[in-house]
Amino acid sequence: KYWNVQQEEIQETNENIREAAAAIQSQEAVAFPTETVYGLGADATTPEAVDKIFQAKGRPGDNPLIVHIATREQVETVAENIPDQARKLMDAFWPGPLTIILKSNGSAAENVTAGLSTVGIRMPDHPVAQALLKACALPVAAPSANQSGRPSPTTAKHVLDDLTGKIYGVVDGGATGVGVESTVVDCTGETAVILRPGGATKEDLEAVIGPVKTATDFKNEKEQPKAPGMKYTHYAPDAPFWLVEGGVDEVQQEINRLNKEGHTVGLIASEEHTDQYQGATVRSCGSQENLHEVAHKIYDCLRFFNDSSVDIILGETFPKKGVGVAVMNRLEKAATKIIK
Ligand code: TXA
Ligand code: MG
Repeated sequence: KYWNVQQEEIQETNENIREAAAAIQSQEAVAFPTETVYGLGADATTPEAVDKIFQAKGRPGDNPLIVHIATREQVETVAENIPDQARKLMDAFWPGPLTIILKSNGSAAENVTAGLSTVGIRMPDHPVAQALLKACALPVAAPSANQSGRPSPTTAKHVLDDLTGKIYGVVDGGATGVGVESTVVDCTGETAVILRPGGATKEDLEAVIGPVKTATDFKNEKEQPKAPGMKYTHYAPDAPFWLVEGGVDEVQQEINRLNKEGHTVGLIASEEHTDQYQGATVRSCGSQENLHEVAHKIYDCLRFFNDSSVDIILGETFPKKGVGVAVMNRLEKAATKIIK
């Protein structure tokens, strides 16, 4: 089913929202927009419903899902022992692109948490997501609505390109805003740890709760805490994707080398550089000076070349500051090779 709700005001009483909510209540998997990326949602309390998500995406069963809620009261329906620090983050960032890992109270289905004793929760900041979550009045488990391993979807078309025939329906609320997924922060220990960089930056979090750790702060790689999902190949377009460090000259050299070998080349570049290249199909993903714009466009750029005939995709790098940390995290994971 396809429900179009691209409009300014949206209520939980909207006919399309009610139909989509009813589908979730009857244990179907339904895709919907959030402010970060599209999610594929199902009733988080029912393992059979949640299993439809894993089936549709082809997602490994050891990768837990984020539980989406519409109200603060719903936190206690799935989590317990909520530390002060976590409450401060909720006050400051919800609704918004922050997923908080808490101790599970056992109510979420076992396949939601992949058998862990913790659960990830977030309250999305998108009118359609909020209306849908209110209408179904359930905690909704939702990973990004892409085929596992592919770039996350930022439009309903991306969802349909990956999952047509595999899901019950999609609620189309237009293109998402942030463009990269939520920040995942583990609040079950003494110090909060960022497991996945995302829409809320480390600086943003530290302004609210003081020092926060990231996986790279742990010297010994074996001790680095990670979101289970971060170990898988991710965000990758169909053709090989190579990230090229350096500037325009280094990237142009790589294009020339590939052209000589007979390759057709696609390039994801910043707006400032798009006109400076020869021998490649260049796609701009926004200005170096506006990393929010880059985050917003990056997945669409990675997907753009899937529909073209280029056989190698190159990418420029971006500054690792602010939301650029999340952008570079995704590009480095998507890359089959990083040329230094
Ligand atoms: O912005 C987002 O977070 C989007 C939208 C739809 O909300 N969702 C999303 O979900 O990106 P997904 O499944 O693609 O990524 C969830 C990440 C994975 O890396 C997973 O391993 C981690 O969160 N995660 C979920 N529950 C966890 C837990 N209990 N402990 C550690 N990591 C967890
Ligand atoms: Mg994902």
